[in-house]
Amino acid sequence: MLTLGVETSCDETSVAIVDDGVHALSNVILSQEEHSRFGGVVPEVASRSHVRTINPIFREALDKAGCKIEDIDLVSATYGPGLVGCLLVGLSFAKGLAQGLGCKFVAVNHLEGHIASNFLTHSISNKPHIALIISGGHTMLIHFHSFGRYELLGKTRDDAAGEAFDKVAKLLGLGYPGGARIDRISKGGNSNAFNFPRPMLKGSSYEFSFSGLKTAVARSLKKMDTNTRAKNLEDISASFQEAVVDVLSSKALRAVEISGVRTLAVSGGVAANTRLRDVLREKCERGNIDLHFPDEEFCTDNAAMVAAAGYFRYRAFGESPFEIDARPSLSVSDSLSG
Ligand code: KG4
Ligand code: ZN
Repeated sequence: MLTLGVETSCDETSVAIVDDGVHALSNVILSQEEHSRFGGVVPEVASRSHVRTINPIFREALDKAGCKIEDIDLVSATYGPGLVGCLLVGLSFAKGLAQGLGCKFVAVNHLEGHIASNFLTHSISNKPHIALIISGGHTMLIHFHSFGRYELLGKTRDDAAGEAFDKVAKLLGLGYPGGARIDRISKGGNSNAFNFPRPMLKGSSYEFSFSGLKTAVARSLKKMDTNTRAKNLEDISASFQEAVVDVLSSKALRAVEISGVRTLAVSGGVAANTRLRDVLREKCERGNIDLHFPDEEFCTDNAAMVAAAGYFRYRAFGESPFEIDARPSLSVSDSLSG
């Protein structure tokens, strides 16, 4: 069964073709460059860019997969959460396509897409596990019982993990988005040089909070002149990154231990972080826990994960009504039973 996925919830325009929910035949992603000079995503600019690029990206996805438009069995698109103007572009494109082809249509929760990004490389779609979603907009720990049966254990009270990376990168003058840049320059730094706080690490809560950590970095920078800042750039990055990694990995491991499952699946843009991957690998090996990350191309926003989630959602709950509207504030619990 060939599923076409469409993702336009924020600043990536992406179309993918996935066979039987797990084999990505193509996954074309255009990351909009227009926003870097504004230091963040400008919604109006993002939706207009989706309008301009969605059709050529759709054509490229078909070409790369080596299939024709009439081979598609199911069309799926993200309907939330995200920027409303952006969501409407992809959702309307996908509905029009499904109507025109006379094929099935499924609307996908972007967060369920991140969960399903791990199904593209690992056979865990039927396996109860703890899902840690860490992206630019979300940080949450979920107990995945089966597809569509999720228990939200905790989420961030303020900034998302990726947002914290982006804000600190901005403070350090590294540009936007900054997560990958902090990851890169931290390799040359000492992660013990600065003792930044580990927010909400102690206690039994699965909630996160990263805005205080960002403020602590800002306060340290304020005390330095330009030369000292430049000299300490790598150490500040590495120490900040270590604090985030410490909090994320400790809470994820505690969720695994307490829930009794033996599998942890991490997804979202921050799942690409090399220090997080190393720390979690070590901790999971020690605790005999199966650890999964998506391939790097499926970490940041992409349509293959939307196609995967669309396929499993169709199999579990059938088609979505064509009347379905964009839902900018959709939460993971909105997708509990279909
Ligand atoms: O999943 P994603 O593409 O978008 C959302 O759904 O929000 O995640 C983007 C986020 C950005 O905040 C970016 O800075 C962060 O993922 N990111 C990273 C890395 N690569 C991307 N953060 C830390 N380390 C990385 N290597
Ligand atoms: Zn995302």
